[in-house]
Amino acid sequence: MARKTLIAGNWKMNGLLADGVDLAKGVAAEVKKMGKTQCEFLVCPPFTLLTAVKKALRGAKVALGAQDVHFNAKGAHTGDISPLMLKDAGCQYVIVGHSERRADHKESDELISKKAAAAYEAGLKAVICIGETLEEREAGKTIDVCTRQILGSVPDNADGSNTVIAYEPVWAIGTGKTPTAEDVEEVHAAVRKVLAKKLGKGNANKMRILYGGSVKPGNAKEFLSLPDVDGALIGGASLKVEDFIAIAKNSGQC
Ligand code: 13P
Repeated sequence: MARKTLIAGNWKMNGLLADGVDLAKGVAAEVKKMGKTQCEFLVCPPFTLLTAVKKALRGAKVALGAQDVHFNAKGAHTGDISPLMLKDAGCQYVIVGHSERRADHKESDELISKKAAAAYEAGLKAVICIGETLEEREAGKTIDVCTRQILGSVPDNADGSNTVIAYEPVWAIGTGKTPTAEDVEEVHAAVRKVLAKKLGKGNANKMRILYGGSVKPGNAKEFLSLPDVDGALIGGASLKVEDFIAIAKNSGQC
């Protein structure tokens, strides 16, 4: 089965109620206008906007995701949100292990794996993020770092239906800098090989691997037409309806 291209927006810590609802309504309207498409759409607003965005997306084929989750179902974890709560708010997806969480909250591969496994338990799909820092890239360690992150942060029961991988080189996030298309394909192909070793070839071939890091309407086609790139995880450009939709349209995949 072919892997369906996923166009995903990570809004990060952006948006008050009115902005978030406007953005979601705009995306919903444009996706409806596109009609039949080969792509799947996903938006991941901050927790505070999940319910309102869910409502604003009504009737459009745009999935809802959160940006993080706790691995426990409930209990004394002040400030955290459980997988069941996300499911209850209408989420189908949750991002785990984003490099900003790995850096800001010292999240380990082990913790990320627990979060992904807990997401599956609640019926959520996990978007598991990996990617090297500039220092690691310059030291020629990109594939090693991504391999270690895949082996450590992808649960053993991950498969193509419950997991999406997002390769996001840390130095390309929000910087306007990107790897070359050849570099991206090299990493994605290597990641798929590691997934095949860990989960079996069948699972690895069904699992989507997104590229993220300064994806814009102007470079969407270059990255999204690569054989092992199955979509994009978009930060800054997902905050503008026109840019988010132009990425999908320009990708040549939707
Ligand atoms: P930018 O698209 O702003 O570079 O962010 C990418 C990202 O981190 C998505 O998760």
